[in-house]
Amino acid sequence: MKFSLPHGGTLVNRFESGQDYASVKVEVELDHTALSDLELIAIGAYSPLTGFMGEKDYHHVLNHMKLAGGKVWSIPITLPVDKQQAERIETGQKVKLARHGTVYGILEVLEKYVPDKRLEAEKVYLTTDPAHPGVGKLFERGEVYLGGPVTMVKRPVKDRFAEFHMDPAETRAVFAERGWRTVVGFQTRNPVHRAHEYIQKSALEIVDGLFLNPLVGETKSDDIPADVRMESYQALLNNYYPQDRVQLAVFPAAMRYAGPREAIFHAIVRKNYGCTHFIVGRDHAGVGNYYGTYDAQLIFRNFTQEELGIIPLFFEHSFYCKRCGGMASTKTCPHGPEERVILSGTKVREMLSKGETPPPEFSRAEVVEILIRGMKNAANV
Ligand code: ADX
Repeated sequence: MKFSLPHGGTLVNRFESGQDYASVKVEVELDHTALSDLELIAIGAYSPLTGFMGEKDYHHVLNHMKLAGGKVWSIPITLPVDKQQAERIETGQKVKLARHGTVYGILEVLEKYVPDKRLEAEKVYLTTDPAHPGVGKLFERGEVYLGGPVTMVKRPVKDRFAEFHMDPAETRAVFAERGWRTVVGFQTRNPVHRAHEYIQKSALEIVDGLFLNPLVGETKSDDIPADVRMESYQALLNNYYPQDRVQLAVFPAAMRYAGPREAIFHAIVRKNYGCTHFIVGRDHAGVGNYYGTYDAQLIFRNFTQEELGIIPLFFEHSFYCKRCGGMASTKTCPHGPEERVILSGTKVREMLSKGETPPPEFSRAEVVEILIRGMKNAANV
């Protein structure tokens, strides 16, 4: 089995800057998520997808976590529009995909269909509670889905951390150039604290390279902003990681907070970026108490290694143990909870916003300093 092949065998490329679309009249306004999905399809991060899902793939993904053709896929990638707009669009027609007056792509509308969003919420998010950020957003978006192949005609301008935007073709080339035969991908929407560092470095002990791939697309408003996180990752890498073993690049997708299903999606997409391994720790892509601590690991049992084509590396809840005098998990440390330095994300955000410093056992001083400054600046905006 070849692990470095993209999902489906070929890296999709749906970018064609020279396309003439003067005759295409109807325009569909994309939200932030749809624009990032369009780009991720175009650059092959979502291979084998070549467009927004039609009804058959959509139902297959909901019911079987597979595309109709049998490839593993766990999250619907759809283009929702409102009813009035849908009425103005004929199937078979091409439409422009635009945001804020700029045309980014063309969709050949092969299908228009009305999804059952409650069913989608139940299947994908395991809840229909609109307080769940992913479900809330699903319910807010348009009620009709357009499906069909896309062509991207213009890339969104990279006005933030431009040098850290890399397409899958580029990351694959960089991994090869660096001579890495095995690469572990790490997804995060948070600053990298000691527990993250511990599991990354544990993985790095057995593979050649680490691909630190923080998600910088849409996140919920109380997550730490991407620009602050990016600064903190660079400080951490400069001080605590060997430069020749780590590649940092952003993942421009929106966060779904779909826990287990999103873990599968995150793994497959990182396979497309060229990773051979993918880290899944505690409550991956979870939010609140919607998912069990290790549900995002258990879901991988539904698939064979052959089907996935990327090896998941599972990690227990990690923490600093005062008795051990180092990072550990319940797998490696016999001491009780009173010895462990564990802080919830909410608690950490609360401390940072008051200018309080979480202990060095929880987070590196260089990271904390950037986060406190970042929170202060955000409060002053
Ligand atoms: S996520 O929503 O992007 O998954 P986060 O940035 O918190 O959230 O986590 C990134 C990765 O680190 C995930 O695989 C998560 O399971 C893992 N992780 C986070 N904290 C811990 C921890 N204390 N112990 C083990 N794994 C962790």
